[in-house]
Amino acid sequence: MAKVFIMDHPLIQHKLTFIRSKSTGAKEFRELVEEVAMLMAYEVTRDLPLAEAEVETPIAVTKTKVLAGKKLGVVAILRAGLGMINGFVKLIPAAKVGHVGLYRDPETLEPVEYYCKLPQDVAEREMIVIDPMLATGGSASAALTLLKKKGARNLKLVVLIAAPEGVARVEKDHPDVNIFTAALDPRLNEHAYIVPGLGDAGDRLFGTK
Ligand code: PRP
Ligand code: URA
Repeated sequence: MAKVFIMDHPLIQHKLTFIRSKSTGAKEFRELVEEVAMLMAYEVTRDLPLAEAEVETPIAVTKTKVLAGKKLGVVAILRAGLGMINGFVKLIPAAKVGHVGLYRDPETLEPVEYYCKLPQDVAEREMIVIDPMLATGGSASAALTLLKKKGARNLKLVVLIAAPEGVARVEKDHPDVNIFTAALDPRLNEHAYIVPGLGDAGDRLFGTK
């Protein structure tokens, strides 16, 4: 069964308050989403394996540690996942970045795929799917299914705000995928927007509306 981790670090929670606020403009919204994504990247990589290394400081040679060379990939669900990429790659510059284009049909609420470009070796990488919003879970579930079809086996999902419906959908469709979120909000409204949420993440990032 998938596990849900709420990232309750004070800096994440503080910044999320301003991301939610309707009086936060696009420039500040983008900056805050990137900053929170970076903090989430830090938290979600806690379990990366380390290997022994040796380094010579100006004073002495010493035993130390480096990442054990585990390959990582980050997959942004377009459009809104784009806002989280920089935060991730600033901390994990060696990560390969994939893009999956999905939009939610406003009538059916089902995800429609329009783009997919992934690193070739997804089967050998730990793949982290990023999207600010997990609402019905349709988009995240479709992106995870697509990655699995391409061979990915080691997957995590990182979102800013999740709704119980989205969590339940991912748990049902992808019980092997752990979900990391900054907040678990109470519900969806009649248009399947997260309440209280932050509104439309893509529109707020890119000023379209
Ligand atoms: C938003 C969001 C997620 C999706 C979540 O994207 O970024 O991808 O909705 O909803 P779901 O869990 O019900 O699938 P949207 O479809 O609005 O596209 P956009 O990012 O291009 O604006
Ligand atoms: N997509 C968004 O951007 N916001 C929501 O609340 C739900 C889906």
